[in-house]
Amino acid sequence: MHRQHEGDTSEEKNILVRIMRKEIVAQNIARFELVARGGKSLPPFAAGAHIDVHLPNGMVRQYSLCNSPEETHRYVLGVLRDTSSRGGSVALHDQVQEGDDLTISQPRNHFPLVASSRKSLLLAGGIGITPILAMAESLSMHEEDFDLHYCGRNASRMAFTDLLRCARYSDHVKYYYDDGVPEQRLNLSKVLAFPSPDTHLYVCGPQGFIEAVKSSAQVHGWLASNVHYEYFGATAVAGAADKAFSLHLNSNGSFVLVAPGQTAIAALATAGITVPASCEQGVCGTCLTRVLEGEPDHRDHYLTPAEQKENRQFLPCVSRAKSDVLKVDL
Ligand code: FES
Repeated sequence: MHRQHEGDTSEEKNILVRIMRKEIVAQNIARFELVARGGKSLPPFAAGAHIDVHLPNGMVRQYSLCNSPEETHRYVLGVLRDTSSRGGSVALHDQVQEGDDLTISQPRNHFPLVASSRKSLLLAGGIGITPILAMAESLSMHEEDFDLHYCGRNASRMAFTDLLRCARYSDHVKYYYDDGVPEQRLNLSKVLAFPSPDTHLYVCGPQGFIEAVKSSAQVHGWLASNVHYEYFGATAVAGAADKAFSLHLNSNGSFVLVAPGQTAIAALATAGITVPASCEQGVCGTCLTRVLEGEPDHRDHYLTPAEQKENRQFLPCVSRAKSDVLKVDL
């Protein structure tokens, strides 16, 4: 995925919005329609963008915008109630009702469409449909060529299918179901069989789905620069098998030990150093920290491979160190 980190600042002005509509659109999936207070327009966004949502329980979570980027009167989210996650989606489902006010961030985009492509191939797994839906709306609006392949466990778990079936681009959408007969399942070899330098592939969904698409794309000869992806529900990355390392703080020369199974951000917090964090999954970039010396063990989904290779920054919510000491700009 190609990301534009330079424009990301956590100081950007937050927005107060009202939940205009909340409805269940598939099994465990709610659609939230957000409008600005006072009927104002909301800041424009491009397909693939997300917002931070400040939840009533104090958590901040990222959700993709799934409505047409042409719209300025609302933002639409699709949220899967995931009881195995860290509580953000459950709070949104259970504690946020129509008429409630919420604070959100400005839209940010780590998953943009490439302007110069001849054709786009959109692949969505489950709730990964949300940014993909905005992409389909945008591509259709600009009369650009695309196909959308949408996979889910079964039809009842797939959100926004009514909308897709009525869309002007409905004949560009194909549906696949993991349950049921094998012919209903997505055949990646078939879908990814014809890479071309001017065709770009966009994939969003659970980690396993994205990994499967990425490795199939590689086997079929897709250029890595033409494959763009955004993770949902990244996996935990600190384990007891990890080795300890030390963070050397540039500001005062002190050392903070990061134990096996402990994240760098948690070790810093124990030492009284707060690094701003949001997703705590290496996805959002909020905790991005400069590295001055040493070699990070990058485990995030935020930095590009080239940025990871440079070793000039790391995400302490998930990443560790290959060297015994990592000197950081803290
Ligand atoms: Fe989101 Fe670290 S808090 S990447």
